[in-house]
Order: sequence, then structure tokens, then C-alpha cells
Amino acid sequence: MKHFVSERAQSFTESVIREMTRVCIKHQGVNLAQGFPDFPAPQEIKEAATRAIEQDFNQYGITWGTPRLRQAISQKFARYNGVSVDPEKEITVCCGSTEAMIASLMAIVNPGEEVIVFEPFYENYGPDSILCGAQPRFITLHEPDWHFDQEELTRAFTNKTKAIVLNTPNNPTGKVFSREELEIIASLCLRWNVIAVTDEIYEHILYDDAQHVSIASLPGMRDRTITINSISKTYSLTGWRVGWAIASPSLTASIRKVHDFLTVGAPHPLQEAAAVALGMGHRYYQDLAQGYLERRDFLGRVLDEVGFRIYWPRGAYYIMTDAGHWGIRDDVKFAHHLVETIGVATVPGSSFYSQPSLGATKVRFCFPKKMETLEQAAERLRKFKK
Ligand SMILES: Cc1ncc(COP(=O)(O)O)c(C=O)c1O
Repeated sequence: MKHFVSERAQSFTESVIREMTRVCIKHQGVNLAQGFPDFPAPQEIKEAATRAIEQDFNQYGITWGTPRLRQAISQKFARYNGVSVDPEKEITVCCGSTEAMIASLMAIVNPGEEVIVFEPFYENYGPDSILCGAQPRFITLHEPDWHFDQEELTRAFTNKTKAIVLNTPNNPTGKVFSREELEIIASLCLRWNVIAVTDEIYEHILYDDAQHVSIASLPGMRDRTITINSISKTYSLTGWRVGWAIASPSLTASIRKVHDFLTVGAPHPLQEAAAVALGMGHRYYQDLAQGYLERRDFLGRVLDEVGFRIYWPRGAYYIMTDAGHWGIRDDVKFAHHLVETIGVATVPGSSFYSQPSLGATKVRFCFPKKMETLEQAAERLRKFKK
């Protein structure tokens, strides 16, 4: 009997995060599930996109990114992350960091090789590993501060390890990896000849004096790191699908080949406008972090008052919560119950774990929303308390 659905595609489910958005629309709920802003993107970037379309940047761009955007990425990476890279040989512009991650993993991993992933993890990393044939090895981030056990991590590195996937600031935990933690990871990468693939999409969304450190900036790591980023979160442009991977020339050559045959290129006029976005001044990033700090504090207080156990994030724009003390043992049922009864959509915790039981008492809330949206959610959540 011939099966028309591949074993590979059968081995993972559709995205729970994106599914919760559809369920939310059905129930006319407030969407605190999928991490995208409901407020407008910066005016000057929108105008730059309109200008680019009018100036006819409307055909395929160079497959690995328009020169202007690669130049802007390299300048910003030197300025903010402290690493100099050659825009001609070390940057690949992709369709969001989603494509940058899968293209990078496909470019470096052979079937059967191992990839280390910290757990809980952004749900895409699971299917990403499957699609490139990698064997994921999960390392626990321990509550409540989401630290990892150095010995457990050390044991996970073997000759089969090809890469370690990092995400700092982290979705869903809000953890910001410290310099000391990154130094431990870097020393293992150097000892075992392993590539760090780091998703730094929330690098400007930091709280409580947390500092963002790029592992590529640590001694010896520049040429064994693939740094992934995008305009989605920093400039509130999740729908534009512009991201990139920064890596040494030899890794970039491989990433570019995979990227070219996956998508050819990210939208050309939006790349031109992204170059303008990356040139925004210091003040823009300060205001972005301050705005999210106020939203975090507001939603955190409400969730605390309602009775959720919350893990205060130090970065990114999510709050992971636990409801086990209420006897919740099925996060998926609980998340559906919340959206159906009070109209607040969340993401079930299990979608961030390799084994659903590990997230069975958790749900994740996101807060990149207008204050009025968060106030509406607060009103609904207080009804749940009653
Ligand atoms: C950690 C992380 N990486 C990547 C993405 C997707 O980013 P992009 O829109 O650039 O594809 C998200 C979106 O929520 C995310 O949280």
C-alpha cells in the first residue's frame, strides 16, 4: 500500500501556537497565544517599504540578500553584538529566522548526527531537527530560574554532536543566558568541535538589567557560530518574513545553497525597508524595551492576582505559568477551556517539551499587545478567578 504522506511529515504535528490563533479567532478571544504585536509598526519603516515598491524593487533580489540590507546587518552586528563580519561572504538573508534556522540546520547536519536543544524550547526546533534528519538531545532548563546542569550538558556532547541550538533571550521561559553559561557552552563546543546555532531574535527585549551576550563574540566562537535573527520582533514586523543567518564563509556557502533552493529569497522591497529599520537610533531600542517592561509588569501582576504561578521573564515577551496547584493535569484541555469560557488564548505548555507530560501543568501567555488589549484580557482573567 502506497502512503502519500511522508513518514517525515507524519512524525510531527502542526504548530500548536499557530493553531491557537485560529481557535482564538473562532471564539473571538484575546490572542495572548501567538507572539505578534497588535500595535502598528514604526511609520518610517512602513514608508521605506512603500518607497521601495514605488522605486520598483519588485523583482528577485540577490538570492542571499540585497547589498544594502547585508551592509546594515553587518554594521549593526558589529555595533550591538561586538562581532565584525563580511557582508559579502558571511550573511544570508532568509524568509524570517524560521527559514534561517531550518536552512542552517539542513546546511550543516547529516542524518543521524545529534543536535543538542535546551528544553523547554521554541516549538519549531523539534520539526526542524526532524526535517534535517538530526537526532535531538534535550537538556533540561530547571525551574524556577531555568538554569541548566553543567554535568548533564557535558555528558550530552559526544563525537556525534554536530550542533547545539540556543535561544537567548528565550521563548518560552524568558531566560537570558549569562556570559558564564555561554562560556561553559562555548568551551564544550570548542572541545567537541560543535557549531552553536543561536536564535537571538529577542536580543533587544530585556528587563531587570539583563545583558544580551552573543556567543559568537566569545573567544574562539566567531567561526563556529551561526547567529540567527530577524526584523519580526525588534521592529514589530512578523508578517514581512525577513530574517538572516550570520556565519563563517564556509558555513555561509552551504547555508546559501540550501536557502536558494528553499525560497530563492525574502521579499525584495521589504529587505530594502529592513535596511532602514536596522539603522534606527539607540532611543528606539530603549523605548521598545521600556514598553515591554510595562506590559510584562502589568500582565504578570494580573496573572499573579488570578492565582497562576508565574515565572518572571528577564527577556522576550512571554510569561510561562504553572497551574498544577489547581489540579490542572492536561494543559491542552486547560488552554482550550480558557479560550472557550473566558476568551483568552494561550499556548499549552506541552508544545515546548519533547514529552507532553513535562508541560502538562503549564500555559504560556504573550504580551506584545496594546495596553487596552491586555486590560481586556485582565478583565476576562479576573472573571476566571471568580
Ligand atoms: C525563538 C523564536 N525564534 C523564531 C521565531 C520566528 O521568527 P520569524 O518571524 O523571524 O520567522 C519566533 C517567533 O515567535 C521565536 O519565538
